[in-house]
Amino acid sequence: MSAVRRAKISALGRYVPPKAVTNYELAKRVATSHDWILERTGIVERHMVEPGTPTSELAAQAVGDLLRQRGMEPDEIDLIVLATVTPDMFFPATACIVQNKIRATRAWGFDVSAACSGFLYALTIGAQFIQSGAHDKVVVIGADVMSGIVNFEDRTTCILFGDGAGAVLLEQSEDEGFGILDYAHEIDGSGGQFLYMPGGGSLNPSTHETVDKKMHYVHQEGQPVFKYAVRKMGEISRQVLEKNGLSGDDVDVFIAHQANLRIINAAAEKLGLKEHQVVKNIHKYGNTTAATIPLAIGDAIDEGRLKKGSLVVFAAVGAGYTVGSVLSRWAY
Ligand SMILES: CC(C)(COP(=O)(O)OP(=O)(O)OC[C@H]1O[C@@H](n2cnc3c(N)ncnc32)[C@H](O)[C@@H]1OP(=O)(O)O)[C@@H](O)C(=O)NCCC(=O)NCCS
Repeated sequence: MSAVRRAKISALGRYVPPKAVTNYELAKRVATSHDWILERTGIVERHMVEPGTPTSELAAQAVGDLLRQRGMEPDEIDLIVLATVTPDMFFPATACIVQNKIRATRAWGFDVSAACSGFLYALTIGAQFIQSGAHDKVVVIGADVMSGIVNFEDRTTCILFGDGAGAVLLEQSEDEGFGILDYAHEIDGSGGQFLYMPGGGSLNPSTHETVDKKMHYVHQEGQPVFKYAVRKMGEISRQVLEKNGLSGDDVDVFIAHQANLRIINAAAEKLGLKEHQVVKNIHKYGNTTAATIPLAIGDAIDEGRLKKGSLVVFAAVGAGYTVGSVLSRWAY
């Protein structure tokens, strides 16, 4: 029997806008404090674009970084899968805008909407095209400009989010047993009522009234989202591990969506993980939605925590609800 053709992450690129906004600065705009934000979320600062900078710009910068790291040309890319909830426009897809910006002349592509789980869903989709043999070089991007859709008068949401982008290259893994091994994904639409942006879509097309009612901003009930995330982040990771005869003890690196430090810690605890197994960078970037996981992969690489052969579990929970976990044996 021939060996399974697997996808591996073979390069990574990142971009965060230069402007950092501290908790102290936000406390000048809404009734909050550095101590409250740090204690409840773990966030110290987040980066934000200058107004008018679109998601495609951050994504293109991240792919540019990736191409430099890998030493490859944009016309070698076969497919672009871009996860975002803040597309430049409803259409065309932001993947098309990025393809044009980076001159990936041979690539096709599309956007994936799965909020904070978006990067893992896009990673799973991209991996299928490598596994099937259809493509050799797939770029998976997670990019969001959350500062464009949060209400800076709502202290319960505006403190949480930041802007950023990350991209990975998927190629065929030459080494048996290395690369993306498995995934577990779920959606639960009954949770949609707790985190959503009601205005601007076909349900509530934009009018003066929808804008007056602030329907073009993120709406969230924090507590149910928090409880669901704590439960499902651990559950879905355990599911993908057990399916492969593994447990928390086998995990070298746990890279979870960075939404709240307390959610990450609770999920890690449920898996029986120790501090050295868990990657945390929420203090620097806040919740950048689809970008948190590639940004965290970047930090894990910088810190020398990802080595060839490391068993990595990625996990995310997001609006939808969307839930996902990907199991990978790091391949470079
Ligand atoms: C939003 C979140 C940080 C709020 O933390 P919390 O501990 O649940 O806080 P609560 O909502 O219970 O609010 C506690 C109090 O703090 C207040 N508060 C809320 N935001 C505040 C802020 N930025 N600064 C100061 N006080 C704040 C509330 O008004 C409330 O006051 P009250 O007790 O007088 O009513 C938390 O619910 C959370 O992280 N939820 C998940 C969010 C998330 O991850 N979303 C993305 C999913 S991928």
